[in-house]
Amino acid sequence: METKLKDPVMVEGEWRDGAGSGVGRVLFTEEQIQQKIVELGREIMRDYDGLQVVLVGILNGCLPFMADLMRQVKMDMEVDFMSVSSYGGGTQSSGVVRIIKDLNFNIHGRHVLLVEDIIDSGLTARYLLDNLRTRRPASVEICALLDKREARAEEVPLKYVGFECPNRFVVGYGLDHRQLYRNLPYIRLLEEDSPTS
Ligand code: PRP
Repeated sequence: METKLKDPVMVEGEWRDGAGSGVGRVLFTEEQIQQKIVELGREIMRDYDGLQVVLVGILNGCLPFMADLMRQVKMDMEVDFMSVSSYGGGTQSSGVVRIIKDLNFNIHGRHVLLVEDIIDSGLTARYLLDNLRTRRPASVEICALLDKREARAEEVPLKYVGFECPNRFVVGYGLDHRQLYRNLPYIRLLEEDSPTS
């Protein structure tokens, strides 16, 4: 007899987090995200054809995006990671960044593409761009899945953007609330009425 397995948690709108009716609506579905990543991968392959590329993921939020994006960039390249933390510990980025884990590899002469889940105030990205440029890479650019433009305090150039994001608190696909929801395969509002990050 054939048994049909139903995934109990990975169904949009049925996430079991105890939030009940307060759960926010889905902004970007798993299918939309995966389709966008295919397009981003093609653009990156076209732009970096023949160059020595290093994708640098900024932990932890980059994790699912990096894992999917790197498999759509179908050419020789390297992968590295950094982990950074804002001083202050509040919900808003302070712009003063501490490196928790630095790159493993020397990026001198390499074309670096930072992979971020979201650019919010832009302060983390500004710090990273300035810091990495001192290491004399051939170039440093940013690929962000989400661009929360309205929250910007610091202008940063984004070479690749997946989606424009409303100025609301969003979770899923790497984005957390108190470390939860990173494993959602889609992106949704934390709550329907949640104002911002
Ligand atoms: C998020 C995100 C970016 C940063 C963007 O990381 O991954 O690195 O915030 O914010 P900004 O544009 O206002 O600087 P977070 O510090 O939440 O850590 P996480 O990736 O571990 O969730």
